[in-house]
Amino acid sequence: MPQMQQLKDIKNLSHKTVIVRADFNVPLDKGMVTDATRINRGSATIQYLLQQKAKVVIISHLGRPDGQPNPAYSLQHVIPSLKKSLHGHDVFFVDDCVGTKVEEKVKGLKNGQVLLLENLRFYAAEEKNDPLFAQKLALLGDIYVNDAFSCAHRAHASIDRITQLLPSVAGLLLSEEINALEQILHNPKRPLMAIVGGAKISSKLLLLQNLLSKVDYLVVGGAMANTFLLGQGYKIGKSLVEPTMVATALDVIKLAANTRKTLLLPVDAVLAKALVPHTPTRISAVTDINSDEMILDIGPKTIDLIIKTIRLSKNVVWNGPLGAFETKPFDRGTITVAQAIADATKQGTLTSVAGGGDTVSALVGADVEDKFSYVSSAGGAFLEWLEGKELPGIIALKNSRK
Ligand code: 3PG
Repeated sequence: MPQMQQLKDIKNLSHKTVIVRADFNVPLDKGMVTDATRINRGSATIQYLLQQKAKVVIISHLGRPDGQPNPAYSLQHVIPSLKKSLHGHDVFFVDDCVGTKVEEKVKGLKNGQVLLLENLRFYAAEEKNDPLFAQKLALLGDIYVNDAFSCAHRAHASIDRITQLLPSVAGLLLSEEINALEQILHNPKRPLMAIVGGAKISSKLLLLQNLLSKVDYLVVGGAMANTFLLGQGYKIGKSLVEPTMVATALDVIKLAANTRKTLLLPVDAVLAKALVPHTPTRISAVTDINSDEMILDIGPKTIDLIIKTIRLSKNVVWNGPLGAFETKPFDRGTITVAQAIADATKQGTLTSVAGGGDTVSALVGADVEDKFSYVSSAGGAFLEWLEGKELPGIIALKNSRK
């Protein structure tokens, strides 16, 4: 397959109108951005283009408005954060993303100006990867830059189809994400450790299978581990579990044994009778759980085992919290492990990569989000990449019009 062209490969951007597909799908509360990380990380590409004296047209989606205009999902809400990330640079806005009005605004742009268009998903055609919609978008520029790695798992018009119509390149954030992720799974220093948590094995089965083929150590935590424990014959009380996935969990255990990989499952747990903040808890081995108790976090022996494995490893990739981390004190296991990874990273003995919405919130809770070697801005795309899938947005860039 051909390689992706990079933004910095393009010479003479001055006077060119460059369409940047960003991912400004950020959380809002009453119209205010509550976490501008994606906007801040996407600003490097925009600033580079401004230095090159290009005219910058930004396209993005926000939320899931289902193909209908909806003021709650207007990209107008991100303008203050975008302006801030561009050190006060003016951001013009137009309340549509295709059509005559937008074309007129784009024509009026001068070198070094930024125009943000309205939410692409106000048109159903975007998610349908519609060729006509892609054509209308492509009309707006000379060059297309995809800087939305976190949308690369979506074969949508602004990600896939448009690359057939314009010279298309990878933006700085997208390239940075791919380099960090490629390095850890395809060219890692060994031993390589993966930590996978979260609620459901059913949503992470492909990921577990793919990771087992790559890593030396695999840690499974979170409610997902309960299904493994049930399969091993332990009584897990009222713990969250997926009974229909027990056979699958046992297959994963067999696969690990057959491929001589170390699979670490919880050996002890923090238990409570209800998932409520600051409820009384009990720590116990997984062999001794009462019928009215539920597993809500990994216990201290499991934490020790994980930390010992971190110290043996040279690379770690992490997705999914290890307990019910949104409810205190069941965030303890996730926080302690996150801090151990941050420490080893600081000492230079470990390269650490994490991704996924919940995982990043957990790292923020542990105050270590800037102490990992790399934290991906992607949620679903990070998961699909861990599953070993080729992402449509990346395939499109590789096969794009040159
Ligand atoms: C994300 O938040 O993972 C991306 O912006 C993609 O959003 P989507 O899941 O609504 O396609």
